[in-house]
Amino acid sequence: MIEKFDNITQEVLYSLEKTQRDFWNISRQTAEFLYNTVRNEGFISGIEVGTSNGYSGIWLGKAFKANGGKMRTIEFYEKRYSIAQSNYEKCDVADVIKICPGEAIKVLEYLPEDLKFDFAFVDANKRESVDYFRLIHPHLKVGGIYTCDNVLSHKEKVKTYIDAINAHPDYIHTILDLPAGLSFARKIR
Ligand SMILES: C[S@@+](CC[C@H](N)C(=O)[O-])C[C@H]1O[C@@H](n2cnc3c(N)ncnc32)[C@H](O)[C@@H]1O
Repeated sequence: MIEKFDNITQEVLYSLEKTQRDFWNISRQTAEFLYNTVRNEGFISGIEVGTSNGYSGIWLGKAFKANGGKMRTIEFYEKRYSIAQSNYEKCDVADVIKICPGEAIKVLEYLPEDLKFDFAFVDANKRESVDYFRLIHPHLKVGGIYTCDNVLSHKEKVKTYIDAINAHPDYIHTILDLPAGLSFARKIR
């Protein structure tokens, strides 16, 4: 069950859902699932790859904020992350979301070695999904959750990532039948 958001947040989310196709946002169903995962697991640190206009970040930011946590999000397109920043401010999550501008692979390569996350959500260049996994893996805590969207809608593009996570001994992985297909894995060691 989703805790009721304030009126402004609800209005922003509904208005962003009207332009969902233009900004490639995740479905509301996926957003609610990610929110519940972060909230129910009590996660306090997260990373998102692929900010766009901030739709998924608002949901994740709300969950991290309710848990007393914070998250980072990566985007290379200035126009989109400026809109996201403004949406985060409207929805009162700007204080818990740090936008990291730039090419996702470069940003991930330069993360401080000791920075650890409970949760990762990947939704950027589908063909680079395997690289994001390789780079986020050392930063994901044992017991943490790794997720990646569009694994059913973009099956071919994410094949190398799916093969890599299925073969990785540190993860228990499944694909959830959410609208675009969500890869969902727990790091077990
Ligand atoms: C599918 S959209 C993200 C949607 C967002 N997660 C949501 O649901 O609201 C993917 C975003 O990733 C960004 N992106 C794609 N490739 C990228 C890269 N190599 N580095 C950084 N950002 C990238 C795109 O500009 C786009 O805004």
